[in-house]
Amino acid sequence: MELRVLAIGDVVGESGVDFLCRHLPTLRRQYDIHFTVVNGENAASNGLMPQQARDIFSAGADVITMGNHTWGKRQIVDEMERTPYILRPANYTSRAPGRGWGIFDGPRGTTIRVVNLIGRCSMDSNFDNPFTKMDEILKEGDATLTLVDFHAEATSEKGAMAWYLDGRAQALWGTHTHVPTADTQVFPKGLGFVTDLGMTGPTQSVIGIHPSQAINRFLGGLPQRFQPADGPCGMDGVLFTIDTNTRRCLSVERVDIDG
Ligand SMILES: [Fe+2]
Repeated sequence: MELRVLAIGDVVGESGVDFLCRHLPTLRRQYDIHFTVVNGENAASNGLMPQQARDIFSAGADVITMGNHTWGKRQIVDEMERTPYILRPANYTSRAPGRGWGIFDGPRGTTIRVVNLIGRCSMDSNFDNPFTKMDEILKEGDATLTLVDFHAEATSEKGAMAWYLDGRAQALWGTHTHVPTADTQVFPKGLGFVTDLGMTGPTQSVIGIHPSQAINRFLGGLPQRFQPADGPCGMDGVLFTIDTNTRRCLSVERVDIDG
């Protein structure tokens, strides 16, 4: 069968959560989506609150992935221990609570492995190597499809990981930069790829943050607690259509919604 996977970019702030809740159900119906993964690590700006996770699931997410702000709201730790559907990066060290990947039921008896990884370029250096961690994960258990959210800063690191997994995973998308990229493609051995999904949140902003705060930072002003910007929101997402028999991605397309 042709299985349609929707990946939604980092949800930023309460207005981003609201926008997602209003538009994700329609988008899922419009494209007849079978499986949805949403990056939620910025829903509370820095982290994700349990009620926000419940709202994102109610809107239609099957799995929520995280990133460098996973522990921004400690209230999520208990929730992550309780549910396998919220993932933190798998290449956190073994001391970290929660899970970095899972195998979930898809339609018609398929199984879908979702992996959340975090990059090391311009990020915390205290992470395990995401490349070798992925090798380890692929040896554990079997699934019809493997999907990867690679939460990373460097486009080169995301691209290298995609080529590294071509033929071993069916889709890999980047998150974290909050800027949607225009490089949707299918690799020779059937992996669908995009460097970054973008974000779901305020469009009149600097990656979701109030412009004056971003400018202040680059002018060297006193540090401030970043706040999501006001104003209209948008939702960035990418649709991967995957043939479950050949285990190859057939197409990758952007399905962004402007606010
Ligand atoms: Fe991030």
